[in-house]
Amino acid sequence: MKKLLVICAIVLWSALNFLNGQEVPSKEYKSNYEQVMARTAWWRQSRFGMFIHFGAYAVPARGEWVKSNEKLTTEQYQKYIDTFNPIDFDAKVWAKTAKAAGMKYAVLTAKHHDGFCMFDSKLTDYKLSTRFGGRDLVREFLDAFRAEGIKVGLYYSIIDWHHPDYPNVGNHPQRDDKEYAKRTFNWDNYLKYMHGQVEELVKNYGKLDIIWFDYSFDEYSGEKWKAKELVEMVRKYQPDIIMDNRLSTHEGSSSKLRMVSTLGDFETPEQGIPDVPLVDKYGNPIPWETCLTLNGVWGYNEFDHNWKSPELIVHSLVNCVSKNGNLLLNVGPDARGNIPAECVEILNEVGNWLGKNGESIYGSGSSSLAKPDWGRYTQKGNTIYAHWLYPNLGQLNAKGVSGENVKNVTLLKSGAELPYQKTWWGNTETGNFFITASITAEKPVKYDTVVKIELKK
Ligand code: GLC
Repeated sequence: MKKLLVICAIVLWSALNFLNGQEVPSKEYKSNYEQVMARTAWWRQSRFGMFIHFGAYAVPARGEWVKSNEKLTTEQYQKYIDTFNPIDFDAKVWAKTAKAAGMKYAVLTAKHHDGFCMFDSKLTDYKLSTRFGGRDLVREFLDAFRAEGIKVGLYYSIIDWHHPDYPNVGNHPQRDDKEYAKRTFNWDNYLKYMHGQVEELVKNYGKLDIIWFDYSFDEYSGEKWKAKELVEMVRKYQPDIIMDNRLSTHEGSSSKLRMVSTLGDFETPEQGIPDVPLVDKYGNPIPWETCLTLNGVWGYNEFDHNWKSPELIVHSLVNCVSKNGNLLLNVGPDARGNIPAECVEILNEVGNWLGKNGESIYGSGSSSLAKPDWGRYTQKGNTIYAHWLYPNLGQLNAKGVSGENVKNVTLLKSGAELPYQKTWWGNTETGNFFITASITAEKPVKYDTVVKIELKK
C-alpha cells in the first residue's frame, strides 16, 4: 500500500511538472552542475579581473580586428609583425597595476584572431619570441602575476586569420577574395595545430587557473573544433582549470535554454550587464562574467580616449556582483608594452575604493531585497551591503529589513555607526528601514557609499 502511494505521488509529481512545462535535470546534468560550481568557487569569490589584449595589432593601433576590418593580406599585415617590439614590456609593472586595482585574476591573449603567438610555440615561427631576444612574454606574464598572488588565465583564439589551413570563413580578412577561396584548406591539419598549441599552453606553463577560448560562430562550433576532445585534453593536464563557454555557440542567449555545459564553466556577456542574475533553465544560478573595455576597443587604439569613468567602473562592478556575476575589465597595452596612463589612473581610483569597500564585493553576491531607488544591494551571509549610487534626498530606505533583526548598521568605509529608524515624516507604510548615511543629499563616499547592515539571522 505504502509503495503504491509513493509510486502514485511520483507519477503525479512528474505529470504536474510535465503540465507546467518544467523539465527535471538529468543526473548527468546535476553532477556536471555541481562540478562547475565547485571548480568556479574561488572565481565567483574573486569577482574582479583584468583582461589584457596585447599583440602586434598595437602597432597599427586601430584595435585587434584591424586585419579583418581592413581586409589586410598576410603580406600587408607583416609590417606590423616586423615592427612590433614591446621594449617597455615589464610584466611586473602590469601585475602591480592589477593588484593596486584590486583585481584578483588576469587573462592575457596568448594568441588572438590574427594568429600571431605571444607565447613561444614550437608549432610555428609566427611568434614574438623569435624577434624578442627569445623572451616568452606569456611566461613572464604568468610568473609576475602569480608572484603578486593573482590567479592567471590565458585567452586563446580558436579562430586563426593567418594559418594556411584555416578557411576564409566568417570574418576572415580574405572573406571576399575569390582567388584565396580557391586554395585547399586542410581542416584536420588546422585542428591538429590548434589542439597542439592549446596542449603547449596547458602542459608547459605550470598551473593555469583559467582558459578563455574565443570564439564559435555558425557551424564553426562545438564538434567542428573537436571540442570534447580538446576539453578532455585540457582537463587531463589542468584538472581544476575553469573555461569560458565559447567553444560552442552556446544556449546562453536564451534564458529558456540556458544550461551549464560540459564545454565550459561560465557565461561571457560582452560589453553589457544582464538585467537579472543568470540562471539555467531549471532556475539554478550559473557562473557568469561580463567582459568590458575601458574605452571602446580591446586592443590598443591611439585615437580612442573615450575612457569610462572610475565611477562607471565601480557601479558596473557593483551591478555585476549584485547579480552574482564577475567583471573582467580590459586594458590594451600600447606597442611598446605600456598600459596607457589613463587606464592606470582609472584602475588606481577603482582600487582605492575597493581598498575600503572590498568586502562588499569579494565573496559577495545577490541579495534577497528588491533593488532600491538609490542604488543596489550585495549580500554575504547575514550581512547586507547597501550601495548608495544615485542622487538621493533624505535617508536611504532599506525596505524589507526588519529593525528587530538588525545587529549593527555602519558606514563600511570608516566603521562608524549610522542611525536608523523605522518611520520618517509622513511615511506610514510598513517594512521601512530608514538609514541616515549623510545629512546632505551628497554621498559621503566618492563613487559609491556602502552601508553595512549586519543582521542577527
Ligand atoms: C570578441 C572579439 C575579440 C575580443 C573578445 C573579448 O569575441 O572577437 O576581439 O577578444 O570579444 O571578449
